[in-house]
Amino acid sequence: MLPPPEAGAILPAMPIHDLSLVLRQLRHLSSQQFILELEGAEIAAECSPGQFVMTTVGGEGNPLLRRPMAIHRVLRDENGHATGFSLLVEVVGRGTAMLQQRQPGDVLNVLGPLGTSFRMPEPGTPAAEHLLVMGGVGSAPFPLLAEGLLREGHSVRAFIGARTADLLLCLEDYEDLGVAVEISTDDGTRGRHGLVTEILEHYLKEREEGPAVLYACGPLPMMRAVDAVAKRADLPLQVSFEAPMACGLGACLSCVIKLRDGDGWSYQRVCQEGPVFDSREVVWE
Ligand SMILES: Cc1cc2nc3c(=O)[nH]c(=O)nc-3n(C[C@H](O)[C@H](O)[C@H](O)COP(=O)(O)OP(=O)(O)OC[C@H]3O[C@@H](n4cnc5c(N)ncnc54)[C@H](O)[C@@H]3O)c2cc1C
Ligand code: FES
Repeated sequence: MLPPPEAGAILPAMPIHDLSLVLRQLRHLSSQQFILELEGAEIAAECSPGQFVMTTVGGEGNPLLRRPMAIHRVLRDENGHATGFSLLVEVVGRGTAMLQQRQPGDVLNVLGPLGTSFRMPEPGTPAAEHLLVMGGVGSAPFPLLAEGLLREGHSVRAFIGARTADLLLCLEDYEDLGVAVEISTDDGTRGRHGLVTEILEHYLKEREEGPAVLYACGPLPMMRAVDAVAKRADLPLQVSFEAPMACGLGACLSCVIKLRDGDGWSYQRVCQEGPVFDSREVVWE
């Protein structure tokens, strides 16, 4: 485990584990998407929904840089004890393609849990509907969030968008959890033909009055569109960003986005102040 940071250091104040973890299983979901199940009870027991890890993808330090991945599910034994966690990955380049080639028994070096989590409702706050909006592999952090919200007795609905039916993610997770799901695909092969923001907006128009909270993760244009829907409906929205990252620890500044700051804006690090932000604070460009 890395030691807690010195005063004034830019590492987060919580302990971060740097572990060599055995890959238990790799499940292919499609030619481009897969789930990795890793050992790592420490990370699994301490992580919160929305947090991420930095993981090596190849062996022997090649490539050097780890890749950020959201914690997808916590794996538990029959007694409910956390024994490991899973990652849901889409191949977009060299690193994720290398990760797809790993075999059970391989060891990955993993740093985590990192970053901020989704803010859960304070105990005693009036019941609200929690609407999770996801596009593509932005689905990864939401089953863990849904689980946490359901555990606290909240009502949850998932809005899932993908390019085509074969690429829809997490349907089994929501079926297991008993979460209602609304689906859209860009090509109309399943659910509504169109964008996930369209099914969200349609649902918000039809639903009965009452408090609701929105959460979104996916491609930037999708999150920008969810922000616009949230503003029109006057609903709070938490967004999780997937900025390119080199260190994951706040040192390299490769991951910054613009956040409102007084009358202007300032850069904030997605790995440190994020990845989850209040959408009203984000400067959407
Ligand atoms: C907090 C966080 C959580 C993430 N969670 C997941 C997850 O659960 N599952 C998952 O599959 N991916 C996730 N990502 C994105 C993932 O880290 C990148 O897809 C991955 O690092 C790409 O590595 P690569 O070597 O395959 O691609 P590269 O060869 O490095 O890049 C290929 C293409 O992907 C783009 N790209 C690279 N990194 C990112 C990034 N971080 N975000 C968006 N585009 C990127 C590049 O601009 C380029 O166009 C997350 C990113 C962050 C910051
Ligand atoms: S990834 Fe290095 S500062 Fe965020």
